[in-house]
Amino acid sequence: MGALSLQGRDVLSLADFSLEEIDLILNTSLELKRGVARGEFQDHILRGKGAAMIFETPSSRTRMSFWRAMQQLGGDAQDLSGGKIWSDAGVESWGDTVRVMDRYFDVIIARLLAQATLEEAARIAQIPVLNASTDFEHPFQALADFQTALEKKGRLDNVKYVLTWAYHEYNPPMGLVTSSLYLASRIPRIQFVLACPEEYTPPQDIIDRAKGFAAESGAQVEIVHEMKKAAQDADFINAYSYVMPADFRAGLQHNWQAPVPHNQNPERFRKWIVNDEIMALAKPSAKFMHCMPAAVGHEVTAEVIYGPQSVIQDEAENRLHVQKAVLTLLLGA
Ligand code: CP
Repeated sequence: MGALSLQGRDVLSLADFSLEEIDLILNTSLELKRGVARGEFQDHILRGKGAAMIFETPSSRTRMSFWRAMQQLGGDAQDLSGGKIWSDAGVESWGDTVRVMDRYFDVIIARLLAQATLEEAARIAQIPVLNASTDFEHPFQALADFQTALEKKGRLDNVKYVLTWAYHEYNPPMGLVTSSLYLASRIPRIQFVLACPEEYTPPQDIIDRAKGFAAESGAQVEIVHEMKKAAQDADFINAYSYVMPADFRAGLQHNWQAPVPHNQNPERFRKWIVNDEIMALAKPSAKFMHCMPAAVGHEVTAEVIYGPQSVIQDEAENRLHVQKAVLTLLLGA
């Protein structure tokens, strides 16, 4: 059997990646990160390669980290967002735009409102298409988060990792939830707990798929509807505000504020905040995580997010390293 290769693959969903492939991505990421720390130049890896970047919503980390990833690897990234191209104006179809990108670039990096639009691009393009977050998945954030946990703990087996819904009047997509479920459910002996109000339970097909992976790997995947219960003895508490995919799309028509349960009846949901009391239920060595942007004072208190247990900057930094790893594995010689 040949060596494991990700050459030319799309990254649409973490459900498409085996544990061996995820290990390869994380090990490559750690190696590239160590290389940077040693002062190594890595600009030969993607010399001459070009990335087309499209963002249908605002982005700080994803935009900056993909751009720096291409630059550090010796390639180039063009940000085509913000009314620069005809498909944004409705003059040309998305499909025709993708057909042309396919002839100019080596990879398409797209943050899109709908997973279906990303999948359409992947069907059309011969070059890899990467998911920079959609209504259903945010694979690179999940990869960076689990790399951060691996670095902090030294292992992922027998680790209790909690991803908890948190109150925020703005309504981001649930992508990190789906991608974390698919990633965690591949990891033997991890204890992954999603805490959320009942209204924010992911669609059943996503849960079933993750539980199917867990049945094979030996991961424990649990969904609970109380933050305090989830936080007990946790090694990691990762706070994330989200709404269901259709509500996310509807929310854009209301300046990111969908008419969802927590906006219509906020008092019931305000207790979903990570504070010192929640962190005290976790292990003394527990770390607080957040993918940012964070609603400080709503999702998490300032004491926690800016306190000694917070690893949010490491998470943000690891976006760069995992994306360099994936770009290297997909496009490198
Ligand atoms: N975490 C994350 O994806 O951040 P941005 O929305 O700023 O890219």
